Amino acid sequence: MTDAAASDIRPHDSPLTRAIGGSGGSSFLAYPCPPMTNDAPIPLAPDGPSPSVPPLWGRVQVSADPHEAAEALGSDLMEQAHACVASMGDFHLALSGGSTPFPFYQSLMTDPMYRRLPWDRTHLWIVDERRVPFDHPKSNWRQIHEIIVDHSGIPPAQAHPIEAMEQDAAARYERALRAAFSRRAVTEQRLDFVLLGMGDNGHTASLFPQTAALRERKLLVCDCDGPTVTPPARVTMTYPLLNAARSVAVLALGSEKAPMIHRVATGSDDFIALPIKNIRPSGTLVWHLDRASAAPPNG
Ligand code: 6PG
Repeated sequence: MTDAAASDIRPHDSPLTRAIGGSGGSSFLAYPCPPMTNDAPIPLAPDGPSPSVPPLWGRVQVSADPHEAAEALGSDLMEQAHACVASMGDFHLALSGGSTPFPFYQSLMTDPMYRRLPWDRTHLWIVDERRVPFDHPKSNWRQIHEIIVDHSGIPPAQAHPIEAMEQDAAARYERALRAAFSRRAVTEQRLDFVLLGMGDNGHTASLFPQTAALRERKLLVCDCDGPTVTPPARVTMTYPLLNAARSVAVLALGSEKAPMIHRVATGSDDFIALPIKNIRPSGTLVWHLDRASAAPPNG
């Protein structure tokens, strides 16, 4: 990628630059945890408004079970994919690792409802990676490659792994992102759909508590390591990139996620303690929960 392409982004135009706080805008820390402003939560529980909707920001979608949650997530993804391809000719999708999303990834390949996903126009990115080889059991890309890249028909040049064993893996990935974005109008140079998870310690992507990565204001991708990081060391998309996205979905399912969901929704922790609290995209945010993860403690 030529530096010319990277410098094609005129600071005050790009969503990325706005997220980074360019052109006199407030700095990245403009994202500290503002008071919880709820956009009308939209519970989809079959028996109407359900009391167990955590007071989270963005849109909260509570499904009866993981299967229904995956379907709700899938229809959002389809809608965004078709809208982006129709308006811009391509679709930039970023997926997370971890265990929760894999049944959903499998359904994208097996459920007929997803047969019309425009994989031929999709760029597939990964939100974060562990510093392990591609064939390592802990590699997030290995799993996504086996399920999606091998079966979707996505053009290989549009499948973008993080070269996690390269010392400058983060810088390489940022260059690849900027090169791909530079083919778009400046105002559309951003990810279109990001799927995040949430760890039991409130981390998301590989943005772990108390780490320097949480204070990254300029880079779109950076390293993350430290005592709070589940080994191995990581490479992760940063808040500026994630919060510039058109739409972000957080998928958190099962009772083991309920205590952290409750704490994120009602507690006074800041984002240094619970990194997911600074996922505040300029676009839309939807929490995809099921009854178990949305249930208040002792609910
Ligand atoms: C990773 C993920 C990470 C994940 C959470 C939740 O590399 O581990 O990208 O952010 O989403 O740890 O993981 P589970 O879905 O396994 O609970």
